[in-house]
Amino acid sequence: MAAPPPAPVTSAMPTVQPVADPVRVRAEVLAARAAGRRVGFVPTMGALHAGHLALVDRAAAECDEVAVSIFVNPTQFGPGEDYERYPRPLAADLAALRSRRVRWVFVPAVEAIYPPGNATRIVVEGPARGYEGDVRPGHFSGVATVVHRLLQAVPSDVAYFGAKDWQQTLVVKRMVEDLGLPIEILVCPTVREGDGLAMSSRNAYLAPADRRRAVALSESLTTAAARWSAGRSATEIAATMREVMESRGVVVDYAAVVDAESLEDAVDDRPAVALVAGRLGVTRLIDNRLLPPRVGSAR
Ligand code: PAJ
Repeated sequence: MAAPPPAPVTSAMPTVQPVADPVRVRAEVLAARAAGRRVGFVPTMGALHAGHLALVDRAAAECDEVAVSIFVNPTQFGPGEDYERYPRPLAADLAALRSRRVRWVFVPAVEAIYPPGNATRIVVEGPARGYEGDVRPGHFSGVATVVHRLLQAVPSDVAYFGAKDWQQTLVVKRMVEDLGLPIEILVCPTVREGDGLAMSSRNAYLAPADRRRAVALSESLTTAAARWSAGRSATEIAATMREVMESRGVVVDYAAVVDAESLEDAVDDRPAVALVAGRLGVTRLIDNRLLPPRVGSAR
């Protein structure tokens, strides 16, 4: 028998070839699962940063095979939003994934996800109402529709989402439950820059002066956490969060403390979440922080 060819010396890991065909990815994922492999999936819009890569690493640690999708989803952008100029550094993204244990990088064309003449959308109510749902009408319908479509192409055991987009995680979980999709949704902590700014593909848009001001979002959340545990009311905390952001020049879309699951009024004996969104120049940023129940706290 001929000796096997020597392993390439240039890279320790096989190069991952992007796959554009949803039918092929689906067949391969189903075959892996039929062979008993646990498959984890990380849906993204690319321009990968350490927040995305933390999800990939978690999937790699917990699953036998990992799939990542990169698809800038047109239906979740409103008119006048940044769909056209959203960063698409595909080569750098593939390079970032190359050193990780990723078997599939699913990079579909728009027509593969939205065939010509497509006319079907998923509308989630409940947690999709208010906050991002108000400021970006139709956004969560676009998210739910594409996540459903991506889960069809990548019918994995578990999908990983970031707490950074807290309301999105609630919308996805609601849809998965309501449509009876056979998948587990796992939410991973927000990864931050050294000064506290939540990592985001949109941070690259920030001019240097705005980048310095952007820390105001996470600062407002730190203030919120302290005041929440000190027993302040949600209304009072929201006003303070707004002041912290406005004092740094952030144009605030919303600042609120609400129930972490329902996004209705916060109550003391359940987890709450502080939610913020604001604009610096042309860049829109969102952030949030979970607040623990505060039963028995001194008030
Ligand atoms: P995108 O903004 O690329 O984010 C992909 C995933 O990475 C989401 O689950 C998001 O919450 C998570 N993520 C982003 N920044 C993070 C951070 N700093 N720390 C931890 N996780 C972070 O969210 C989307 O894409 C899209 O809406 C998508 C779900 C892919 C549907 O199009």
